[in-house]
Amino acid sequence: MQVVLSTYEGWQEVLPLIELLDISKSYGTGKSKVDAITNINLTINKGDIFGIIGHSGAGKSTLLRCVNLLERPTAGTVTVGDVELTKLSTTQLQQERRRIGMIFQHFNLLSMATVRDNIAFPLELAKQSKSTIKRRVDELLKLVGLEQHADKYPAQLSGGQKQRVGIARALANNPDVLLCDEATSALDPQTTNAILSLLLDINEKLGITILLITHEMHVIRSICDRVAVIDGGEIVEMGNVLDVFLKPKHAITMDFVSQIADSFDPRELIGTRSGRLVKMNYVGEVTYEPLLFNAVKSTTVEFTILQGTVSRMKNTPYGQLVIEFIGNDREIDEVLAGLRDKGLEVGELK
Ligand SMILES: Nc1ncnc2c1ncn2[C@@H]1O[C@H](COP(=O)(O)OP(=O)(O)OP(=O)(O)O)[C@@H](O)[C@H]1O
Ligand SMILES: [Mg+2]
Repeated sequence: MQVVLSTYEGWQEVLPLIELLDISKSYGTGKSKVDAITNINLTINKGDIFGIIGHSGAGKSTLLRCVNLLERPTAGTVTVGDVELTKLSTTQLQQERRRIGMIFQHFNLLSMATVRDNIAFPLELAKQSKSTIKRRVDELLKLVGLEQHADKYPAQLSGGQKQRVGIARALANNPDVLLCDEATSALDPQTTNAILSLLLDINEKLGITILLITHEMHVIRSICDRVAVIDGGEIVEMGNVLDVFLKPKHAITMDFVSQIADSFDPRELIGTRSGRLVKMNYVGEVTYEPLLFNAVKSTTVEFTILQGTVSRMKNTPYGQLVIEFIGNDREIDEVLAGLRDKGLEVGELK
């Protein structure tokens, strides 16, 4: 069976939808000038869920708000679809922004309006007829599971329900893109997972491209296809979530990965064991095969699992193991070659 670490490209048509070219944004002038983001280049493909992760103050919100020009970049161009937004007049921009929905950490709902009226608001701005608005709001209430709460006010809702209203409102004008600024950061873990599932559903069923920012690796692992790591206003690492997760290169990325991975560094085992220490990464259905048993069964080699994770990233199973192989070197070399033939990434810790 062929195992491909870069699972994404190659089997799905890749069309760029959002292109940020050399974007910089500074606030203030003179001594109080802050360079929030510097020379960001980013392409987000149609249909992707793209995550941007970074610590507080890294420039995530600034970057996200540059996509719909809620924040106008100091330099660089923003293109969504075939339209260069940075070139448009205010009126043209208002029109184009309907293709870009946005949700926020603190929901930003109208407190004096009911759920129904909150969702209807962007449709009224777009001057839709009363009957169209009624029909569309009913559809959206159903999509986010709030049919029973249509006439309530935001203060009568839980955090998760408020974010569902935010999502329904953002989708009202059938956007191509949904921007999410820390959409789950104010929610408990269970509600976070329910909202992440809803976002994944929206992406899969409606084909909406999602750009989200977060400081939680869990959010990235659960639903994103690609990820960029941002630090000090610059992108320090970018790629498919599986690649970045299994082989983080930058210290900040390792820091985020350790939020959800076993933070024990296997190199600490070097010198403490008599056998040969091997780290293995594998991805895909092979995760559920009796790989190690099959690899050693016709040899005299024995093995011990010293550390391991078998889990899933979005829909892809993966495993990461540290194994000690005991036996004669020639046989161990053959076992390792056999595992590599299966498509596993096998590296010896020395
Ligand atoms: N309106 C503003 N005026 C001046 N400085 C700002 C403004 N907005 C952001 N900044 C500064 O720009 C930098 C990036 O801020 P930004 O809000 O983009 O970070 P962030 O990654 O979203 O952080 P958080 O995770 O805390 O939301 C910070 O140093 C911040 O203080
Ligand atoms: Mg922010």
